[in-house]
Amino acid sequence: MAKNPLNVGMVGYGFMGRTHSNAFSQVGHFFDIPYKPVLKAVCARDAGKVKAFAEQWGYESIETDWRKLVERKDIDIIDIASPNDTHLEIAVAAAKAGKMVMCEKPLGRSAKESIQMVEAVEKAKVPNMVWYNYRRVPAVMLAKQLIDEGKLGKIFHYRAKFLQDWTISKDLPQGGQGLWRLDVGVAGSGVTGDLLAHCIDTAMWLNGGIAKVSGMTETFIKERHHNITGKTEPVGIDDASLFLARFANGSLASFEATRYARGHKALYTFEINGENASIAWDLHDLHRLQYFDHRDEGKTRGWRNLHITDSDHPYMGKWWVPGLQIGYEHTFIHQVADFLEATGAGKAAAPTFREAMATDLVTDAVLKSARSGQWELAN
Ligand SMILES: NC(=O)c1ccc[n+]([C@@H]2O[C@H](COP(=O)([O-])OP(=O)(O)OC[C@H]3O[C@@H](n4cnc5c(N)ncnc54)[C@H](O)[C@@H]3O)[C@@H](O)[C@H]2O)c1
Repeated sequence: MAKNPLNVGMVGYGFMGRTHSNAFSQVGHFFDIPYKPVLKAVCARDAGKVKAFAEQWGYESIETDWRKLVERKDIDIIDIASPNDTHLEIAVAAAKAGKMVMCEKPLGRSAKESIQMVEAVEKAKVPNMVWYNYRRVPAVMLAKQLIDEGKLGKIFHYRAKFLQDWTISKDLPQGGQGLWRLDVGVAGSGVTGDLLAHCIDTAMWLNGGIAKVSGMTETFIKERHHNITGKTEPVGIDDASLFLARFANGSLASFEATRYARGHKALYTFEINGENASIAWDLHDLHRLQYFDHRDEGKTRGWRNLHITDSDHPYMGKWWVPGLQIGYEHTFIHQVADFLEATGAGKAAAPTFREAMATDLVTDAVLKSARSGQWELAN
């Protein structure tokens, strides 16, 4: 039977614009989804560059103003893959226009923005989802299944970190294409909203809500040349952010993110210690899950290095044959597949805007605690 077309309006052709365009292009080849995604239009401000992107990726048309994209009757879903300062306005307008909305993380620059976005999509009753794609790594999804099955038992500890090293040079400017992450007005915060947001989303999905936090942040380089103003300007983002947390279920946690860990490009790791078993995962080896089960026979007990490539592992039955790996880009394909399957069945797909707002409440609390020097409530 012919599937209903789903006309995609993409905002942004940068890093995420590419991962999302790839996901919408590929998803129907591997997953039995109830729609046929069509790359209808891509939008960004530079007409020449967006036209070149549209040609390369097969978009039918371009826009240079997202408002025009949102107004178009032939667009079913607005996908926001542009910097953080654009999310609120585009998402609210898209919801008012009755479009489905997918938005990159963090949902808002703060929870104050996120709540407006949640209200807009809920009032308009439009399907919505935030791109916390690491949930869709098969090994991470397997971790979720093992925890939900009770394999770990009571969880005592959650430990996560996300380390990079690309902003160490004091000569690196802030602002503009590629460097908007260093401009607090655009990004909202530094590594707290950029990197820790991923760690927090995964953590709360795996182990429930975070009750309170005690944070510490640092801005190592205090001033940088600003590409937009052309002047040397104060740096308002956090370069590094660490926090301790207590989950609602009583588990203790530590989280760390920095762009000053020389030698690390994108080292996202977490480890969870329960009364019966422990789990560890590392983005650099994303198809593996480390698992230790104390109930194993003593003589052979030890950390098991699981290769998550069998057809009975999450999502893997849709890909190649057992033993062959998939990678980073597939997490976005899985996310689109889950979103479209749920939407076709009239259900919500996680994380919805409301679920993703919970992460912004935690990142706000971390930044507040770093300023106050006190423990702060995180919900
Ligand atoms: N899920 C993830 O793992 C992940 C990874 C990277 C980035 N992100 C998020 O994705 C978003 C985009 O990040 P990126 O790395 O792709 O950035 P990027 O700088 O690579 O690309 C941003 C794109 O947005 C366009 N843009 C900027 N302002 C615009 C406007 N007003 N109207 C239309 N287009 C506009 C730019 O031209 C560019 O094409 C951010 O919110 C970021 O936090 C998420």
